[in-house]
Amino acid sequence: MNKIAVIGAGTMGNGIAHVFAQSGFSVALIDVQQAQLDKALATIGKNFDRQIAKGSVSEEQKTSALGNIRTFTSIAEGVKDAELVVEAATENIDLKLSIFRQLDEAAPRGCVLATNTSSISITRMAAATNRPELVIGMHFMNPVPVMKLVEIINGYATKPEITETIVDLSRKLGKVPCVVNDYPGFVANRILMPMINEAIYTLYEGVAGVEEIDTVMKLGMAHPMGPLQLADFIGLDVCLSILRVLQDGFGNPKYAPCPLLVNMVMAKKLGVKSGEGFYTYTPGSKELVVSAGFRK
Ligand SMILES: NC(=O)c1ccc[n+]([C@@H]2O[C@H](COP(=O)([O-])OP(=O)(O)OC[C@H]3O[C@@H](n4cnc5c(N)ncnc54)[C@H](O)[C@@H]3O)[C@@H](O)[C@H]2O)c1
Repeated sequence: MNKIAVIGAGTMGNGIAHVFAQSGFSVALIDVQQAQLDKALATIGKNFDRQIAKGSVSEEQKTSALGNIRTFTSIAEGVKDAELVVEAATENIDLKLSIFRQLDEAAPRGCVLATNTSSISITRMAAATNRPELVIGMHFMNPVPVMKLVEIINGYATKPEITETIVDLSRKLGKVPCVVNDYPGFVANRILMPMINEAIYTLYEGVAGVEEIDTVMKLGMAHPMGPLQLADFIGLDVCLSILRVLQDGFGNPKYAPCPLLVNMVMAKKLGVKSGEGFYTYTPGSKELVVSAGFRK
């Protein structure tokens, strides 16, 4: 495989394009918005500059990687000669089903269709195509150029040879692949989201404050970031929607989202992206300040 198409040029799409281009693959980066494509190229350039400053990449490697990326606003145009498509568009089931139908029509017959979804069923997306055996989950972590893991998710119909191909490909990107099966939340979010939800319940019930909860988990469990700060980083709306997927998918009340999380999302306190969640974020400042409502 050498020709890769990436659908969606947001947070994850630009990172996925970055790592493929850096490893010498030819990348077609596709988004419905030209502005997102321009922003993604600028972000990729800045992230390469950061790697250059650290000495892990040379100026020549940056130039060559950027030369490997072409941008498109049309899916049909961007995927027409792709050998692998990695879909990283907005997390919305109807949108993803419609993209998979389009991909099935426009991508060459043997082209593998992968999705970076955090929580939507791979099997359901595969069923929207006429090639379910070529559909697979390729779940990169944020920030993609830094994080080593790729959670590879076998749909119900995924062929074993396709899984092997994607495992090898992930290793070529310098990543560590981990193969799992397609059940709600896969492995990463099935374990992470209940922990975040429990941290929010611990705050909601007054067991401890924001800083205490995050400090216990950071210093006690050697987590690089506390669960409440991590929730802010992921986006509280994203955490809520993944918990709903777990709750619906398993029908088990243990996944029910904490009412405090539901309220914060309704109040548009979404974490880093809205400027406020459990902490308050000021552009240009790295200081971690607990939000006013949670200060003692
Ligand atoms: N952000 C994370 O930390 C993270 C981590 C792992 C997985 N994911 C998953 O990755 C995917 C993308 O998430 P993100 O955070 O990058 O989202 P994002 O909102 O930053 O970017 C999504 C992009 O998709 C584009 N898009 C929407 N409809 C499209 C279409 N029809 N065709 C082409 N592009 C389209 C949007 O314009 C936007 O640029 C989601 O499935 C999400 O669950 C996100």
